[in-house]
Amino acid sequence: MPSNSSANSSATKRIAVIPGDGIGTEVIREAVKVLKAATSITGTKLDFVQFDWGADRYLRDGTTLPPDAVSMLRRDVDAILFGAVGDPRVPSNKHAADILLGLRAKLELYVNLRPVELIEAALTPLRDRGTNDINFVVVRENTEGLYVGMGGQFQRGTPHEVAVQEDVNTRRGVERIIRYAFDYAREHHLGRVCMSDKSNALTFGHELWLRVFSQVKDEYSDIESRHLYIDTLVMELVRDPGQFRVIVTCNLFGDILSDLGAQLAGGLGLAPSGNIHPGRISLFEPVHGSAPTIAGRNLANPCGAVLASAMMLDHLDLKPQAEALRKAVRAAVREKHTTADLGGTLGTREVGDWLADNVTKNLT
Ligand code: NAD
Ligand code: IPM
Ligand code: MN
Repeated sequence: MPSNSSANSSATKRIAVIPGDGIGTEVIREAVKVLKAATSITGTKLDFVQFDWGADRYLRDGTTLPPDAVSMLRRDVDAILFGAVGDPRVPSNKHAADILLGLRAKLELYVNLRPVELIEAALTPLRDRGTNDINFVVVRENTEGLYVGMGGQFQRGTPHEVAVQEDVNTRRGVERIIRYAFDYAREHHLGRVCMSDKSNALTFGHELWLRVFSQVKDEYSDIESRHLYIDTLVMELVRDPGQFRVIVTCNLFGDILSDLGAQLAGGLGLAPSGNIHPGRISLFEPVHGSAPTIAGRNLANPCGAVLASAMMLDHLDLKPQAEALRKAVRAAVREKHTTADLGGTLGTREVGDWLADNVTKNLT
């Protein structure tokens, strides 16, 4: 059996840590601290293996994702914890495309699961909305759509230039993500799934989404299904977010929706994500980027990275430890042991210390 199977019963799990750029390195340091606190007293051992893939390495020796990275990760580790990539010194974003989009594609991490949970009513910018109103997951297709990098430029830099970016949607890719959304709704007793596309304008690719959705939904008669065009969905999410439990959509719309969702629940600093292939090695990261303007100043909120770590523990079947991390973040937010983005006065490291202490107390 491969060592990375999530069915692996061995007590030691190997975690590849890719902090990346900017605040990625700061929040991942705290996430590892909290993960160590959660596992050291429960008899499970996590071995962390660090990788320096990111802008510094790229600028130093041209390496983005090394050629043997994917086979090595599949062979040697159980999960990947990722910070963020993006650096003003690399305006092409070449390293981010190779590393992050490369791992999503090559490891076939076809689900990007992005939960949105309002922990404290005061944190939402919406008037008169409470914690029950904002609690849904975005299930983002993560390997296709406009992200596949097919297309090209012709007569670049001239007045006649042409740029083409292909939107690739396959029957297999669309069907498996829609099925995942329904299965997730069923497993978590969420009751409803909304699929969102732009099939009224994108009459080839998104027409496929609509057709597959209408077929698959009939197999899930216990789950309420609904279709909304993406423009209507964003409007409804602001007007009355309590309607939604599971939203499934394409790669690009899922990217945009997850930042909207993050802000409805208090901001990017709190938002986690899992890049998942069920049953296989998967990658967990906060939704936010490298935030270059606040990097290196102990200002970044590490909670998104800690909640992403909780999703990783779930994937590794370490449920009590995962719950201890979530409980600690909820307590930190409610009791205002937070960074400035959530109205607190603590730094990144101090929030990490508080969460690690709280996790230790929760588990002893
Ligand atoms: P960003 O998410 O880095 O920042 C957006 C805003 O949110 C900024 O004001 C930032 O200060 C704030 N913010 C983000 N995370 C925060 C945190 N943890 N605590 C407090 N404040 C936080 O998005 P951007 O500015 O559009 O992008 C910066 C770089 O990151 C770009 O190179 C972009 O391509 C990259 N990026 C990478 C990822 C990823 O690796 N998954 C995701 C998004 C953006
Ligand atoms: C995200 C990011 C990435 C994406 C970028 C950095 C390519 O915004 O993970 O949400 O668009 O998927
Ligand atoms: Mn994004």
